[in-house]
Amino acid sequence: MRVQLESGGIDQIRAETVIVPTLRRGDTPRDVPQGLAPLDRLLSGRLADALASGDFKANAGDRLVIYGPRKGGLVRCVLLGLGEAESVEDHGLRELGGHVGREFKRSASDRIALIIPPASEIAAERSACLIAEGAVLGAYRFDRYLSKSKQAPTKNKKESATGRLDLVYVRAPRSLATLRRKVAEAAEIARCQAVARDLSNEPPNVIYPESLAREARRIAREVGLTCRVLDVPAMTREGMGAILAVGQGSAHPPRMIILEHHPRGGSKTRRGKRETLALIGKGVTFDSGGLSLKTATGMPDMKHDMSGAAAVIGAMRAIALLDVPIHVVGIVAAAENMPSGTAYRPSDIIKSGSGQTIEIVNTDAEGRLVLADALHHAVERYAPSAMIDIATLTGAAMMAFGPWATAGLGNDEGLLAEVRAAADATGETVWPMPLLDAHEKTMRSKVADWKNSAGRDAGISTAAAFLRGFVAKTPWVHLDIAGSGMTSNQTPLHIGGGTGVGVRLLTQWVRSRARA
Ligand code: BES
Ligand code: MN
Ligand code: ZN
Repeated sequence: MRVQLESGGIDQIRAETVIVPTLRRGDTPRDVPQGLAPLDRLLSGRLADALASGDFKANAGDRLVIYGPRKGGLVRCVLLGLGEAESVEDHGLRELGGHVGREFKRSASDRIALIIPPASEIAAERSACLIAEGAVLGAYRFDRYLSKSKQAPTKNKKESATGRLDLVYVRAPRSLATLRRKVAEAAEIARCQAVARDLSNEPPNVIYPESLAREARRIAREVGLTCRVLDVPAMTREGMGAILAVGQGSAHPPRMIILEHHPRGGSKTRRGKRETLALIGKGVTFDSGGLSLKTATGMPDMKHDMSGAAAVIGAMRAIALLDVPIHVVGIVAAAENMPSGTAYRPSDIIKSGSGQTIEIVNTDAEGRLVLADALHHAVERYAPSAMIDIATLTGAAMMAFGPWATAGLGNDEGLLAEVRAAADATGETVWPMPLLDAHEKTMRSKVADWKNSAGRDAGISTAAAFLRGFVAKTPWVHLDIAGSGMTSNQTPLHIGGGTGVGVRLLTQWVRSRARA
C-alpha cells in the first residue's frame, strides 16, 4: 500500500472511499465536524443527516457508512469512532490506522482517503505516521493459498498490493515536506513488518533453510544489502557443529545467512573505529522437536519458529531502505529440526563454532544451539559494538507473556535500556527477566562445557545464560519472542499468525544508535 499526503483540500479528494475519524466529546456528535462542510456537500447533505440521527456514537471502533450520490466519484464515506479525546494515544492512532487498512480488504476500493482531524486535536506529525503504520498493518493479508473466490475482494489484485491511501488535512500542517518523508518512512517500516509476517506465515514446505536463504537474497538485491550464505561445507569449515547437529536430521540442509548494510554515505565511527551492530535471528523453519518429539498439538505453530529470522530480515530491509548511517550485519541461523535416522540424539556431545562442547539433553532445545554458532560467528568475524538476538526460544516465554510482551535479557544494562526505549517508541513491549550466575550453573554439564537444557525451572533465564556463553565480552541483549512472535488474537493490527514483532523495534534501535 502506498500512503500519500494530499496537499489539496477536501473538494479535491479523488478516492472512492473517504474515512472520517471522529472524536467523541461527551455527547454523541450531531453536527458536521469543523472543516468538513465541503465533504457534506459532496455527499449532498447526507453526512449532516446521518450525524443528526444520533445513530453514530463515535465510541472507539464504531463504524457508520454513508453512500454517496449516484453520480460523482465518491462511493462511500465511512465514519470511524475514536472514543473520548483523552484516550486517543499512540496505540489508539495506530489502531485507527488498522481500521483504515482493513477497509481495503472490506470493500474493493483501491484508493481510500483519510481525513486527518485538525492539528490542535491530535499532533499532526506523529498521528500521521502512526496512522500510516497502522494502515499498512491493518491491510495485511495472507490469503495467497486460498482459491481466488475466497480471497479478500479487490478490484485489481496487482494494484491492491500497492493500493493507495491519501491522507487529507482539514488544516494543512506547516512543513509538508518533512511530514511527507516521515510518513513515507513509517509506512515503509510497516511494510517491512509485513514482509516478516509473510516469511513467518509461509508453511514449512515452502520456507525451509534453502528457500529462506533464497528469499533473503532476493530481498537483499531489491534493497541493496549484501548477502552471503554459508552452506553445509562452508559451515563445516567454520566448525559450526551446533547448527549442523540441529540440521542433520532433515532432508533440508541448514544455512547460515548473512546480510550486511553498508550505508551509502559511509559508516558511523566511534573513537576512530567504524562501528558495527549485529542482529541475530533464530531461523528454525520447522521445529518438530527432533527425537525429543513435540506433541501433536504443540507442533503446528512451529512453522513460526523462524520468526526471529523474519524480524532480522524485515529490519535489515528497513535499515537498507532508510539508508541508516551505520554498518549493520544481520545473521540468520536457519535449520529444520526433524527426527530421522540421521538426526542428532539426546546424549550426543557436539562441538560448537566457539570450540565449546555441548551435551545434548533434549533435541527440542535446538534454538540456543543454532544461535550459539551465529552469535559466535558475529563476534569473531565482525566484532560488533553491540549485538541483539531475537528468537522464539522458550515455551516459558509464551507462558509468562502470551502475545503481549517480549522477554529481554542480556549482559549490559545500558544496552537493555536502549532496547526498552526503542520498544516504547515503537509500541512494542520488552520486559526484563533475571540472568543470574545460578542460571548458568544449571546449564553446565558433567561431561561437556555445557548442556543444552536444564529442565523447566526459569526456562527463559537458563536459555539466556547458555547464549551468554557465546557472546564473549560483546554488549548483548537477547529477546525471547516465543509469545509475541505469533498470536491467535485478531486485532485491528493483526489477522493472527506471525506478528512481525521486532521489525519496528530493531529498526528503531539501530536508528537510535546511528543518531547517538
Ligand atoms: N521453539 C520452541 C519454543 C516455543 C514453544 C516457541 C512454543 C513458541 C511456542 C523451542 O525450540 C523449544 O522447544 N523450547 C523448549 C526448550 C526445552 C526443551 C528446554 C521449551 O521451551 O519447551
Ligand atoms: Mn524446540
Ligand atoms: Zn524451537
